[in-house]
Amino acid sequence: MRKESAVSATSDLCVHGLAGLHVGGGPALTQVIDIELIVNGRLTSLSLDPRVTLLDALREHLNLTGTKKGCDQGQCGACTVLVNGMRINSCLSLAAMHDGQAITTIEGIAPGENELHHIQAAFIERDAFQCGYCTPGQIVSAVAMLDELAAGQPSQAAEDLSAAPVLTDAELRERMSGNLCRCSAYPHIFAAIRDVAGA
Ligand code: FES
Ligand code: FES
Repeated sequence: MRKESAVSATSDLCVHGLAGLHVGGGPALTQVIDIELIVNGRLTSLSLDPRVTLLDALREHLNLTGTKKGCDQGQCGACTVLVNGMRINSCLSLAAMHDGQAITTIEGIAPGENELHHIQAAFIERDAFQCGYCTPGQIVSAVAMLDELAAGQPSQAAEDLSAAPVLTDAELRERMSGNLCRCSAYPHIFAAIRDVAGA
């Protein structure tokens, strides 16, 4: 599905300040590739510098700004999205690596128009945010985390790998440890997740 479509010596595309990089004194090269992503159920074509992260592709090229850029280095979880149903930090992944894959962002997490996902509704009910900057990542991560739990995937906090995981406090903290909240709304975030998990 992916193909290299252009090589330009003068493109204005600038990603992390690297576009127009001269290698070995040769001409500046900016390569553009064509990819297709299925974003929130919609097939989307993009022509991108291959160095563009999935996070920047979503925010800067598709205007899906619900996914947040916090640290841009894999430490805060604000950029969490689902790729083929699995959660990842989109700041650490190149968009070109996901050609043909299904991406779900906070804009597409609800089951339909004018509906909320159970986790979204629980966050509102439990007032599980203050500034809200981490909230999209928290919600997307919680959705995937509950799926992982239901599938019986163990976490680092598991004491018995042969037993079905139970959402203890230790499990919840461990499984959501990749999503930081600078406002420290953790008690309400965990309460919201527990409401949906029935735990
Ligand atoms: S912005 Fe990706 S982990 Fe912080
Ligand atoms: S609500 Fe402000 S960072 Fe989490």
